[in-house]
Amino acid sequence: MTKLETLFIMLENNFVTARTKVLCVIGYPIEQSMSPIMHNAAINELKLDFIYLAFNIHPINLSIAVKGFRTFNITGINVTIPFKQKIMKFLDEIEPTAQKIGAVNAIKNDEGYLIGKNTDAEGAMKAFLDAGYSISGKNILLLGAGGAARAVAYVMAKEANKIVIANRTEKKALKLANELKKHFNTNFEGKSNRASVLKKESEKADILINTTPVGMYPNVQSSPLNTEFLHQDLIVYDIVYNPLETKLIKDATEKECRTIGGLDMLVNQGAIAFEWWTNKKPNVNLMKNKIIEFLGIK
Ligand SMILES: NC(=O)c1ccc[n+]([C@@H]2O[C@H](COP(=O)([O-])OP(=O)(O)OC[C@H]3O[C@@H](n4cnc5c(N)ncnc54)[C@H](OP(=O)(O)O)[C@@H]3O)[C@@H](O)[C@H]2O)c1
Repeated sequence: MTKLETLFIMLENNFVTARTKVLCVIGYPIEQSMSPIMHNAAINELKLDFIYLAFNIHPINLSIAVKGFRTFNITGINVTIPFKQKIMKFLDEIEPTAQKIGAVNAIKNDEGYLIGKNTDAEGAMKAFLDAGYSISGKNILLLGAGGAARAVAYVMAKEANKIVIANRTEKKALKLANELKKHFNTNFEGKSNRASVLKKESEKADILINTTPVGMYPNVQSSPLNTEFLHQDLIVYDIVYNPLETKLIKDATEKECRTIGGLDMLVNQGAIAFEWWTNKKPNVNLMKNKIIEFLGIK
């Protein structure tokens, strides 16, 4: 290799050039997103000619944003609140699992052909299993019935014995339970999140999963479940990752429950999308540590 070639490779690995490929996340708001931090850390370590940005897209501009992905040849896109469902109709293809879940959180742009995928589901499951826990034959109490709840419910439904979905808007819980019944033989129930319901259902549950934003920064003193309803036999999974230790996780630790926070799900869903876009396996520990570092100094 000539000196010039070596220099060129060094430049390509360290600078944004006219050939740099763009990855991004869209949402509204977007300032809270940790995705640029973890993805750029992985890009830098692998010395890839990519950059990962974040765009705050007003909901009225969603269709224009999707046109922009094609116009500006954005290679890969993450989608967050409030677009995970709304974006589906603008895409050329939706992978079957994302279609069933009814939400897309990652898009690949294959020369203008946009493919939607759901990596939240796989990311949530991987984090749970990697922590050494099992779903098989378990009774799950799932708090929330939004986009993340749908992903978690679909990925865990095959192996669980029963999933009770408890949501502030009861009819959304019922709707999700009825949809799930069409695809799986597992027992499903949709309920409200009234204290009396949560008390009864948490007693019978082996696993409690919070998919609501309750407890998320800045409302760090809130918890989606009354502390008294926690018991030692529960595994408590809170997918909220900011703060890293939510009030629910703190309460559960005090009650000697086994716990898992939302950071591993976040990193896993990101790593799956990263590999899909770049064909390279990112360093998940590095991605996780960069977020911890960032949240620690924020
Ligand atoms: N760790 C990760 O990788 C990861 C991935 C995805 C999402 N998340 C987190 O998961 C949370 C939910 O995200 P999402 O995309 O599912 O949002 P979403 O689609 O807006 O759904 C939110 C759900 O939470 C319920 N909810 C909202 N505020 C509530 C409150 N004050 N009390 C009780 N229930 C409430 C909603 O109930 P209604 O139906 O009554 O509105 C709905 O069921 C967010 O905090 C997000 O950051 C984490």
